[in-house]
Amino acid sequence: MVGQPREIAVVLLAAGKGTRMKSGVAKVLHPIAGRPMLAYPLAAAEGLGPAYLIAVVGSDAEVVEATFAGRATFVRQEETLGTGHAVLQARSALEGFRGDVLILYGDTPLLRTETLRHMLEIKVATRADLVLLTAAVDVRGIIVRDGDDRVLRVVEAPDASPEELAIEERNTGVYLIDAELLWKTLAGVDNRNQQGEIYLTDIVERAVNEGRRVEAIRLEEPEEALGVDTRALLAQAEAALRRRTLNRLMSDGVTIVDPAMTYVDSDVEIGQDTLIEPGCVIQGATRIGCRVHVKPNCTIESSELGDDVVIGPFAHLRPGCRLGRGVRIGNFVEVKNSILGEGVKADHLSYIGDADVGAGVSFGCGSIVVNYDGIAKHRTSVGERAFIGCNANLVAPLTIAPDSFIAAGTTVTKDVPRDALVVGRPKQRHIEGWVSRRRRADHAPAKPGRKPPAKPGRKPPAKPGRKR
Ligand code: UD1
Repeated sequence: MVGQPREIAVVLLAAGKGTRMKSGVAKVLHPIAGRPMLAYPLAAAEGLGPAYLIAVVGSDAEVVEATFAGRATFVRQEETLGTGHAVLQARSALEGFRGDVLILYGDTPLLRTETLRHMLEIKVATRADLVLLTAAVDVRGIIVRDGDDRVLRVVEAPDASPEELAIEERNTGVYLIDAELLWKTLAGVDNRNQQGEIYLTDIVERAVNEGRRVEAIRLEEPEEALGVDTRALLAQAEAALRRRTLNRLMSDGVTIVDPAMTYVDSDVEIGQDTLIEPGCVIQGATRIGCRVHVKPNCTIESSELGDDVVIGPFAHLRPGCRLGRGVRIGNFVEVKNSILGEGVKADHLSYIGDADVGAGVSFGCGSIVVNYDGIAKHRTSVGERAFIGCNANLVAPLTIAPDSFIAAGTTVTKDVPRDALVVGRPKQRHIEGWVSRRRRADHAPAKPGRKPPAKPGRKPPAKPGRKR
């Protein structure tokens, strides 16, 4: 008979100062592949459906709490006196809780829910009172085992002997422990150690001394234990998460021509048979449909693309775009906060900002939606099948009715009725013979004592004292 899984309370430690990041931003708020760092361990914990999820926060508590409001109960650690002290801050929030407490760090974005679930299974299967997660990584906590391979204690590197320092198995800082045992062992921990901190790791030796069963499981992929406390480790974590996302997308039927040259955030969803060419950056909660072709060097931020859209090369979708089925966005086109209906085309060199565009509208090369008057942004509405000629400016706020035709070079400042042609440019005039007259004037030999002839179309300079 094995034990039964019990209720889980998660305690996430996120009060560390993150000094080595050299940043004015709280460490756990640094973005990694589109989410703030703390969002990852938080999501890994949420995946277990815990009864309690408590985050211990310290520096920049307000901004961390505001960012994750509703996703955790926050407790503050006013002074960072050590990991054991940090866990103690969660004690009153867990008053009366009798299940298992899972302790994680807020700076380990690569940890997976499956790994945590495996710890829960091992605890049940072995009837352990405490399960530790260990890995062969370069961190301070050293796992000391006895001759029978049973865990004896965790010793921190500054307090370790030379023999202990040679041990490769290290403490990742993830613990699953019976709540009653946690509070009992933690109660007596002091700060008599090299760092003068209240070490959470001391609970291990205390549990062993109490005759409790302690198990340690080794991480198969040590990378999962990566704790981010420098910018270099931030980049390493970002690269690992990006690789995971691309692997997920490729296994879902998306073609990524060159994964090393494709930057896709963790929350991006892409449909089957979509093709992403190199140099693309796809950010935020972007949703891309099926059979979409994203040509090289596009940036897509928090937008939705329907099926069969073609975009790029060198196109930029800024946040808030919704592109209907079959939309075509071409070279050097920027779209912002706009809704484009089915089949809309803007193939070259356009800007479409704050616009609601009906199905089948065509934007000619260089056409611009002028959405900003220097003070405020305004919206433009373009009806179905309207044709916007090359280099036209649509000055918002503006409503262009369906089936209208805006001639090339027109600057539209008034609403346009249905079915109308709008031409707003100076009338073209021709000056017959002008070119050959100019050529003759340019090549005529200068006679001694005579001024060069005036060029056609240019007025002679005014003589002083003469009225003109
Ligand atoms: C800790 C462990 C060590 C382990 C290593 C893994 C202890 C004494 N040591 O070492 O065995 O190998 O993690 O990375 O536990 N934190 C607080 N409040 C504090 C101190 C820390 O919330 O007062 C949080 C930090 O924000 C961080 C986590 O606890 O998320 C770990 O803190 P850190 O200082 O990185 O731990 P280490 O000393 O490296």
